[in-house]
Amino acid sequence: MLKEIHEQPQAIKNTVLPRTKNFLPDFSRDNIPDSLFSDCKQIIFVACGTAMHAGMIGKYVIESVARVPVQVEVASEFRYKNPIVGKDDLVVIISQSGETADTLAALRLAKEKGAKTLAIVNVVGSSIAREADYVLYTWAGPEIAVASTKAYSVQMSVIYLIALKTAMIRGLLSEEETKTYHKELLSIPEKIEKVLKNEEIITTVAKNISSSSSIFYLGRGLDYASAMEGSLKLKEISYIHSESYASGELKHGTIALISEGTPVIALATQNDLLEKTISNIKEVKCRGAMVTCIARSAMPYESGLYDNMITLPEISDLLAPMLSIIPLQLIAYYTATYKGCDVDKPRNLAKSETVE
Ligand code: AGP
Repeated sequence: MLKEIHEQPQAIKNTVLPRTKNFLPDFSRDNIPDSLFSDCKQIIFVACGTAMHAGMIGKYVIESVARVPVQVEVASEFRYKNPIVGKDDLVVIISQSGETADTLAALRLAKEKGAKTLAIVNVVGSSIAREADYVLYTWAGPEIAVASTKAYSVQMSVIYLIALKTAMIRGLLSEEETKTYHKELLSIPEKIEKVLKNEEIITTVAKNISSSSSIFYLGRGLDYASAMEGSLKLKEISYIHSESYASGELKHGTIALISEGTPVIALATQNDLLEKTISNIKEVKCRGAMVTCIARSAMPYESGLYDNMITLPEISDLLAPMLSIIPLQLIAYYTATYKGCDVDKPRNLAKSETVE
């Protein structure tokens, strides 16, 4: 798993560069027509687990820049709910293995209902890749560890390309604005290398939380989507219960669970939500939480606001999830390691759930 975490910069380069032309997103090598993104009335991401969390990132990003309605569906729910899907919809199926049973069944149902289908898959020639109308391969290379890391990052990178392409062809982003974001996407590998060097503070946080029984991951907007993935990473390899929560929702009940020493990982990368996020951090801090903040260097320091701060290289709100996932993966990895867990083959889990 640690090897695959460190492979992310190269995996993102391998996935994004072949789809870059004059610093703009280009899917011509994938034989995907612009009309797939310009004509759909809504986009529906369907996936499981970590892949579904990539879809959550996609929802916020695509709705923000392209103003196309996006839904995110858990495949095991989608396939049994007689979903309202039709010819005007683009169903995007996300799967590292391309063999997850629920996700494959959801693809088949979407096609039956007349939707156009696009698969984002890491395994060439897998069932989902073969059966979707269109496929965008991620080039992360084989992902062996059960806990998905590099596959998630490259899934996000493809989704950013889709978002930028859709926004540009629909006239929501100018060519120049699109190039600005695309160039930032191209700078991600180098910024991830910098974050990967931040291990000291991360191992300290991991040591502090490794004996906890329950941990909360908080965030607003894109940080909430990233918190979902951070929470799953921790649960599946360290066996510590955790949950992700929209920071603004905490006060509606769950804050009752916060007591002295409860570890809280607070994501605060969204500048346009920073003030509200800081007030949410204060809410848990004053109830005794042990707060680790993941933020961009621009975050205002207030003494007593948090116990540990993991700062990220400067990045836009929109692309921050590409960086904030790194400390979240490493916190999970080191916490599980301190607990002596089998990080690569966690109990009860398989790399691909090919049966229901
Ligand atoms: C994530 O770390 C897990 N391995 C699991 O949630 C996984 O993402 C999910 O089972 C989906 O697998 P897929 O991407 O191969 O379809």
